Amino acid sequence: AGAVPVITIDGPTASGKGTLASRVAQRLGYHHLDSGALYRACALAAQRAGIAPDDEPALAALAAALPLRFEGGRAWLGTPGEDVTDRLREEAIGQMASQIAALPALRAALLDWQRRCRRAPGLVTDGRDMGTVIFPDAQLKVFLTASAAQRAERRHRQLAAAGVSATLPALLADLEARDARDRSRSSAPLKAAEDARQLDNSALSIEASVEQLLRWWDDAQGGAPHGPEHAP
Ligand code: CDP
Ligand code: CDP
Repeated sequence: AGAVPVITIDGPTASGKGTLASRVAQRLGYHHLDSGALYRACALAAQRAGIAPDDEPALAALAAALPLRFEGGRAWLGTPGEDVTDRLREEAIGQMASQIAALPALRAALLDWQRRCRRAPGLVTDGRDMGTVIFPDAQLKVFLTASAAQRAERRHRQLAAAGVSATLPALLADLEARDARDRSRSSAPLKAAEDARQLDNSALSIEASVEQLLRWWDDAQGGAPHGPEHAP
């Protein structure tokens, strides 16, 4: 038998990575790793511990022993564990996550944790460097994009639904600042793997994106259908 299957979905913020990864994982009965939540949890833990966002050794030590668990679709930090799912989604935490994610020692400290998520029957994972650095041998790599205007629009709707008010121009500015930082850093920058399939979902529904990805998954496996247990 070959390696446990992995599907990686990388792309800029609010492109729909998390939603797509979670739906595809559900359809295939695979595990889902939202790697962004890991960087966000580090940011939150660092903020609470009063660690400065440029204190690389302290952040790496914190990351190496991060008491984080994903269970029942929620993120739990600490022992016995506090539900921090909603806090992790805050844009301020996202910005801080992007700042500390540029530090090589912190990224190195999170490497094994991520690779250990590759368990049978398979893994679907989303982030920035899943296909380029963490799982370079993934059986399918997707680079998901959408126009900045469309992504700001989506984030706006997502926040409004959660009762958080934010203006569209401010969201667009935040999102472009974070993307620029993620693309320009020297350690694991946001970019498509050479062997990634590109999917621009600006005008594509979530369902259509899921179907496209499952077709690619069938192709990657030599055209075999993805099994009766995965029928819609
Ligand atoms: O994980 P990432 O930041 O890339 O994005 P997400 O949280 O999965 O998606 C951002 C928002 O866009 C969510 O509310 C999705 O429901 C929405 N979305 C959409 O409306 N149409 C798509 N084709 C993909 C995502
Ligand atoms: O949901 P959204 O796309 O806005 O962000 P996220 O995936 O939760 O990631 C938050 C930040 O963590 C990103 O801006 C990246 O700087 C960093 N990150 C990373 O460096 N590598 C990953 N594999 C995932 C996230």
